Amino acid sequence: MYSQATNLENYMNRNDYDKIIDKAKDIQKEWRTIPAPRRGDLIRVFGNELRADIETIGTAIMKDAKKIHAEAIGEVQEAIDMCDFAVGLSRQLYGLTIQSERPEHKLQEVYNPLGVVGVITAFNFPCAVWAWNHCLAMVCGNSVVWKGSPKAKNVTDSCKVAWDRAVEKTFPEPWFKFKDLLQVVEGDKTEAEWMADDNRINLLSATGSTEMGKALAPRVSARMGKALYELGGNNGMIVSRHANIDLAVRGIVFGAVGTAGQRCTTLRRLIVHTSVYDVLMTKLKSAYASLPVGDNFKEETLVGPLINQESVDRMQSALEQAKAKGYTVHGGEVVEGCSVRPAIVEATEQCDLIKTETFAPILYVLKYSDLDEAINIHNAVPQGLSSCIFTDNVQEAETFTSAVGSDCGIVNINIGPSGAEIGGAFGGEKDTGGGRESGSDAWKQYMRRSTVTINYGKSLPLAQGIKFGD
Ligand code: UN1
Repeated sequence: MYSQATNLENYMNRNDYDKIIDKAKDIQKEWRTIPAPRRGDLIRVFGNELRADIETIGTAIMKDAKKIHAEAIGEVQEAIDMCDFAVGLSRQLYGLTIQSERPEHKLQEVYNPLGVVGVITAFNFPCAVWAWNHCLAMVCGNSVVWKGSPKAKNVTDSCKVAWDRAVEKTFPEPWFKFKDLLQVVEGDKTEAEWMADDNRINLLSATGSTEMGKALAPRVSARMGKALYELGGNNGMIVSRHANIDLAVRGIVFGAVGTAGQRCTTLRRLIVHTSVYDVLMTKLKSAYASLPVGDNFKEETLVGPLINQESVDRMQSALEQAKAKGYTVHGGEVVEGCSVRPAIVEATEQCDLIKTETFAPILYVLKYSDLDEAINIHNAVPQGLSSCIFTDNVQEAETFTSAVGSDCGIVNINIGPSGAEIGGAFGGEKDTGGGRESGSDAWKQYMRRSTVTINYGKSLPLAQGIKFGD
């Protein structure tokens, strides 16, 4: 990711970058005049191109992000789902009509396209997270400039190929120029900073580490720009004494070791009621012991390699620190290359190490004895993306979703913290950055809302009853 990059030289020459952004501005001026349902036609065709290319793009994800086949295909499916969602949305994009306090007046909300949307994505979801942004940006009448992760170039390229084909199938020449509605910026830290500083970019949507977000945010703010951040998570699960333990174990394993612990939604902290601690740990350790770790191209593998050696080193260093604190560490060994066995760490307090997101399959386990204590532990980290509780007790479940419950953007009951559907808004609070992407009303961020007041009378009454020269 951005923070780990060796950005010794630029990927792009600044002039080429400028040309891309100028082109994005020009093409958007034409695109914004196409009716939204027509824009949706292109996204419908694009969804079908993704369906046709699901294995090709899936293979690129397996190569670049080192995901296993099922998860790579699942990621393309998430992009396809996003297309279907955006097609429906293209016939909605509703604004309110509001009662006016003045006679013969009407207030209306009108949503218009924003302009150029800059999208920065990370290696771990190189297709789906772009699609969350791209599909909404398109039906909302914007152009997109996409800086994918330099680690996932095959994925970026294969998505661009599918996009260009969708344009050719939807429009006749000379409208093939709508291919430029999606342009790719190759780059890393420097190019991300260009985008953050660039006034021609009307919304910057950035996914990656909190460190990256904190580096870009002041730059976007300095130009009063709009931004949408989807940053680090340090997601927790409470397992209550009322939990179905087998269900919890299944949720824990997928949440903590799926994608080799490299999802922003990965389960990193387990907060377990003392009365079920031993039984849960026994089942969990046995589930971990049978996990097939290794080559992500092998059919039987469930845990593929980490993205690179730096990630392996960071994981090993975190485990060393945990051991130095006297915590019991199970697993975590390097198997071969960048393949590691997922680790479980039995901790005694939520120290700074546990409050830090290590992008690797390390699951810290803590004990609690009452729900308030569990919720306090749960919320006492800087990040606020995803959260969950396993309980069959309605008071506990409802408390967790209430004002005194989880402080995260995603709150699940009897489901792990990862693997969200696209229909809801995705994102989190605190150091996670506050953005919301994909479903629900996330589209509103990709449009400019105008409050329109219409006077259809023959006089000009002022609001608040003001008399001015009457
Ligand atoms: C991410 O890791 O950046 O909820 C996104 C999930 C996926 C998206 C993860 N649908 O785990």
